[in-house]
Amino acid sequence: MPHLESTWTHSLTRRDAARALAAFAAGSPLALAQQDPFRDHSRVPAIDELLNAFDFEAVAYAKLPRQAYDYTAYGTDGEFTMRRNREAFSWVDLTPCVQSIAKPDTALTLFGKPHAFPILLSPTAGHLQLHPAAEAATHQGATAARTTMIVSNVASLPINEIAAAAPGPLWFQFYPREDLTAARDTLDRAQAAGCQAIVVTVDQQAPVFERDLHGRHLGPIARRLPARQPAAANPYRISDRRLWYSWKYLDQIREMVKVPMLAKGILTAEDARLCLEHGLDGVYVSNHGGRSLDYAPATLEVLPEIVDAVAGRVPVIFDSGIRRGTDVLKALALGATAVCLGRVPRWGLGAYGAPGVQRVVEILQAEFVQAMAAAGRPNLAALNRTLVRTDFP
Ligand SMILES: Cc1cc2nc3c(=O)[nH]c(=O)nc-3n(C[C@H](O)[C@H](O)[C@H](O)COP(=O)(O)O)c2cc1C
Repeated sequence: MPHLESTWTHSLTRRDAARALAAFAAGSPLALAQQDPFRDHSRVPAIDELLNAFDFEAVAYAKLPRQAYDYTAYGTDGEFTMRRNREAFSWVDLTPCVQSIAKPDTALTLFGKPHAFPILLSPTAGHLQLHPAAEAATHQGATAARTTMIVSNVASLPINEIAAAAPGPLWFQFYPREDLTAARDTLDRAQAAGCQAIVVTVDQQAPVFERDLHGRHLGPIARRLPARQPAAANPYRISDRRLWYSWKYLDQIREMVKVPMLAKGILTAEDARLCLEHGLDGVYVSNHGGRSLDYAPATLEVLPEIVDAVAGRVPVIFDSGIRRGTDVLKALALGATAVCLGRVPRWGLGAYGAPGVQRVVEILQAEFVQAMAAAGRPNLAALNRTLVRTDFP
């Protein structure tokens, strides 16, 4: 076919052209931005437009510098465990019973203190990169939402400043320090500031955050692990800060702690039993939100065997992957006493400061109440394994 004829046959009619132009305009990013507020970062939605925790992540992503968002988002290595933490919730079905529940009772007593909900804030590092008021704002948001914040050992603010920012209850998370004098000093300060429990984190001994390492090619992004030690001294990328932990060490610091003490990062029944043998007051099931050992199991998968080993002798706290009220319900049905939120309040803080922390926690509380009502369970004592059907691989 001659070239001219081909052009003639295949060229657009005026009507086709007008139709194509209209379709193009309708599909353009500008038009889409009118419909989807998250696409156009120049418009941040008002806080009460957000419906669930995931919505807060989108706003935090839009507002935070890339490095701050990534630091919250990533897990160790290929992030398999981080993804599995979420996936595990889809392996648990909820089986409701027919019973009308006017107002589910979510209250519990933990270490002798009343809690309105079985939902606390996990310890997470450095809130200054998320908001100028840092942990002070997180504590204010947590207090407004009537919940307890566990302050990280590597918080951006000193513990007494965080404690002074709001009247709500605090716990303190401690990273073991080999130097026992330094350990005592940190533990004394936390207890003097009124922290009601001490959580000793025993996992995350050698994490590698590849997103960070990849990110270094993209501009002025901190190089966390290589910066710690010269390559020659650390050829396997293992931080030597935390590679000396022992149960004996926990015994040594146990007598420095006058409030209840828990170990965080427990993933086996055997370690849970050791926690009890070493006089701990609680077991905190966690894989650090997938930031410790990649290919560790999802915490929800190991929760039942740990609960069985503990046999009600001490509270079992649970975290890693909680995003929904139904997630809380599943963890409690499988035997957790209470759960903690890691990334969720960070998204609230990064998106809206203290009101964001308050709102995102209240959304989970409301979802949890609604899920209890829909499941026909009047109170926390009624949450047990009859409520779930598990299909872990
Ligand atoms: C950005 C970030 C910082 C964290 N910092 C600490 C920390 O300082 N101490 C600690 O014990 N755990 C820390 N964690 C782990 C959390 O306490 C918690 O176990 C984890 O976030 C729970 O998983 P989730 O984020 O899926 O809820 C951190 C987690 C994240 C995401």
